[in-house]
Amino acid sequence: MRPNLFDRARVWLPGVIATLCGVALSGCGGGPYPMDTLAPQSDLTRAFTSLFKEITILDSIVLVVVIVAMIGAIFIYSSREGDPGEPSAMHSDVTLEMLWTVIPALILVAITVPTVHTIIKTQPNKWPANALEVRVIAHQWWWEFRYPSSGVETADEVHIPEGRVIHFSMVSDDVIHSFFMPAIGGKRDVVPGQVNQITLTADKPGEYYGQCTEYCGTSHANMRFRVFVDTPEQFKEWTAHQLEGPVKPAGGAAAAGAKEWANAPCAICHTIKGVSGFSKQYAFGFRGPDLTHFGSRTTFAGSILDNTPANVAMWIENPDAVKPGAHMPTLGVRGQQLTDLVAYLESLK
Ligand code: CUA
Repeated sequence: MRPNLFDRARVWLPGVIATLCGVALSGCGGGPYPMDTLAPQSDLTRAFTSLFKEITILDSIVLVVVIVAMIGAIFIYSSREGDPGEPSAMHSDVTLEMLWTVIPALILVAITVPTVHTIIKTQPNKWPANALEVRVIAHQWWWEFRYPSSGVETADEVHIPEGRVIHFSMVSDDVIHSFFMPAIGGKRDVVPGQVNQITLTADKPGEYYGQCTEYCGTSHANMRFRVFVDTPEQFKEWTAHQLEGPVKPAGGAAAAGAKEWANAPCAICHTIKGVSGFSKQYAFGFRGPDLTHFGSRTTFAGSILDNTPANVAMWIENPDAVKPGAHMPTLGVRGQQLTDLVAYLESLK
């Protein structure tokens, strides 16, 4: 006897429902997640998120219609009693062909129009005159940030003021990287010899995570960064502080460390303004972050380590163990020398 629709559904429907619930519930959880792409904190990411939601709703409607039609067809046509008879001799149905051409075309238009609108809105040809430019230079495997209007140079952690248009102009020093800050600024490839751009206005103060998202070598996964959105006053203070010269330690381990710095080879690659630096930008084919205000950063080494004396000592002792492939060599600084050097670096607030 031909099984009816409900007999069959009883077999597979619970499995389908359980699977769908599992998929839906997998999106729930504690949060907020630092790399959540659906928690926008700027005009740019809000535009992306709203486009994503619009298209997802449209796609879901199409999916439901197609699945229902397909399941309906399975039940209606799959099991017939007796001889199925000759297949239909009909060659074409103009109405049907028109429908399945026009409907997908309309769906594509419904996706294309808001997508192109979002691209035009978020990638203007000209940046507002009052935009703050931040130059992003990607290196294997750390991020350098420069502020042409003030002259500030820093690494791993970028500060921007809330409520002001920020214009990131990005270029790579070596291979192709990708600048990704999900909550604030979406994602853009960072390419040698070509300046790519992102423009955005951050909503509110906070600390946001970023990450390189283009495979760029051994320590690609260790090429992270932080974005600090400050209030305009905090940003002004931060800028003023970054422009000051480095702290001159009065005594103790930090002062001894300053002497170590003068003798150690660190200065070949790292600048401490007024203390060490190099005229050639690419001494030895690479260079390390500016350390003038190293102690004021919360993280270092591609933002993978918290800036604590123990972590800095671990890094100097064997950079390759922390960040495989790191261009910083093992310098052989140990014991009291290392303790003093770390104290000096940490004093550079
Ligand atoms: Cu830089 Cu991946």
